Order: sequence, then structure tokens, then C-alpha cells
Amino acid sequence: MVFVFIICVAAPSCAWVDISNYKDLNLKKTPQLVELVEDSNADVEELMGLAPEKVLLKWMNFHLNKAGYEKTVANFSSDVKDGKAYAYLLNVLAPEFCNPLTLDTKDPVERAKLVLDHAERMGCKRYLSPKDITEGSTNLNLAFVAQIFHERNGLSTDSKKISFAERMTDDVQISREERCFRLWINSLGIESYVNNVFEDVRTGWILLEVLDKVAPGSVNWKHASKPPIKFPFRKVENCNQVVKIGRQLKFSVVNLGGNDIVQGNKKLIVGNLSLSLFFLYNFLINLICFTSIKEFSFVLHFYYYL
Ligand SMILES: *[C@@H]1O[C@H](CO)[C@@H](O)[C@H](O)[C@H]1NC(C)=O
Repeated sequence: MVFVFIICVAAPSCAWVDISNYKDLNLKKTPQLVELVEDSNADVEELMGLAPEKVLLKWMNFHLNKAGYEKTVANFSSDVKDGKAYAYLLNVLAPEFCNPLTLDTKDPVERAKLVLDHAERMGCKRYLSPKDITEGSTNLNLAFVAQIFHERNGLSTDSKKISFAERMTDDVQISREERCFRLWINSLGIESYVNNVFEDVRTGWILLEVLDKVAPGSVNWKHASKPPIKFPFRKVENCNQVVKIGRQLKFSVVNLGGNDIVQGNKKLIVGNLSLSLFFLYNFLINLICFTSIKEFSFVLHFYYYL
């Protein structure tokens, strides 16, 4: 969504801005971006939440800092106007095409021209003029930086770091969704309190409580065991009842067995999720849909009888 918006504002003054330039600006597509932050969950999560232009600024300053450029670029207008930041950036990314005149020249327009020449030698198609740089056109400069990034990001290809980033994006994604399910379940006003959905639902008890909330009377409490549960088969029994009720409520839980919920391991099987997590997701989403559909039909009935 965000990048589409940028294209809309960036495009009018030029013939064609390659949309694909913006697609790389996230950790999923370019896990090397993790090099821009410390190896911690919080920093990676923050990076994932940044708008593409903020990622670009972070990336640009990362290289400028390495190159010894004294200033920090805070925007794509007045801060890049004189072309110096570009000269430093391109010299780091593609020193083989470096032209010493770029930094020696006193004339900003001449420097901007040399910068564009340099970028073109790197493989960037030219679609802005030296004047777009010296006048500080935010959108065109942003598009230009995105194009340079796309062409050559100069980030580490250290596979250990990258796999760390890939693992992290999955974890952050999973933990976001976990939080969402957790808030929803805790908002239902069931007796138990959920601290971590994927851990706490494994006894099946909480899901039974949730089911009883969203479909009152659906649970046979005589065949349910409340935690702490000593015998594993009691958990499976709970979970089997969860699945049975899910089927009765016409949830799409085709391949889900009670045991899938109990195991809850994070082994990668379906995409980024374990089979059991995948089914659990599916089940929880079904539950949420079921509740809101009921509320929706209640509203319909309400208006119908009004
Ligand atoms: C860009 O950032 C600099 C500080 O780095 C600031 O002085 C300048 O006013 C900003 N320009 C725009 C157009 O926001």
C-alpha cells in the first residue's frame, strides 16, 4: 500500500518510474537490510515497521557514515541538493565507476550531472535531470535513491546474518499475529487468561472456553479436563472435542486432529508455519469469522424487525 502511494506522487513529473524499485525495501525481500540494525528483536521489528522512504534514508546514511560523509541525510530534498551525498554514496557502492571530478567540482549542477553519469554506468536508467537533484525534488530524488538501492545495495551477503533476518521476520510476523489472537481471546471474557496463544491453547481447555463463549452450549464439559492436566491423553481428548465442535460449526478444519493442537511445535512445514500452527491459525481465524458473522446476522435481524 505504502509504496503504491509513493509511486502516485512520484510519477506525475516523469514519464515512468519503475515500481519494482520499491518492492525490495523490506526485510522479506531484502533480508540483508538487517545489517542496518543491531541484532535484536526490537530493532528488527522497528525496521519492519518503517516506511520505504525511511528504510532508504537509513540505508543511505549507513553507507554515508562508512564513507566518512560528515552529515546525516534527513530528507530527499534540501539534504541531497548539492549532490555531495550522492557522490559519496556512489563511490562506496560502485568505486569502479568513480570520477574524482564529482567531489572536486564547485558547481552543484555539474556535480549532479556527474552523479547521474556515475549511476548510469552502474546500470541505472536515467529518468531525472541534474536540475531535479539541485532543485531538491523530493519524489524524484526518492525514486533515484530507490533505483540505486535496487541496482546495488552494497549490503553484506553474510549468510549467517541473512538467515538470522529471515528467521526473525517469521518470528516477528508470528508474534504479531499471536498478539492479535491473544487480545481477541482475552477480550471475550473467558475465565482463563491467555499469556501466549500458541503455548496456552495446547491443553485444549482455553479453546473450549472460547467455543463455549462464541457458541454457547456447544461444549460438553463432562468430557473436558481443566489444567493443570497430568495425563497427555486428557489434553488430546480436550482438543478432539475442540475439533469436533469446529466441524459441527462448519469450520474448515478438514485435516486438523486434536493432536495437532497439543503438539504446537514450530517445525517448518507449511510455508513458514508448522503444520500444527498452521491448523491452529486456521481454527482461530474460523472462530473470529464465526463470531463476527453471528454479530453481523444479529444486526441484520435487528434491522429486519425494527
Ligand atoms: C531537510 O533536513 C534538514 C536537516 O538535515 C533541514 O535543515 C531541512 O529544512 C529539511 N528540508 C526539508 C525540505 O524538509
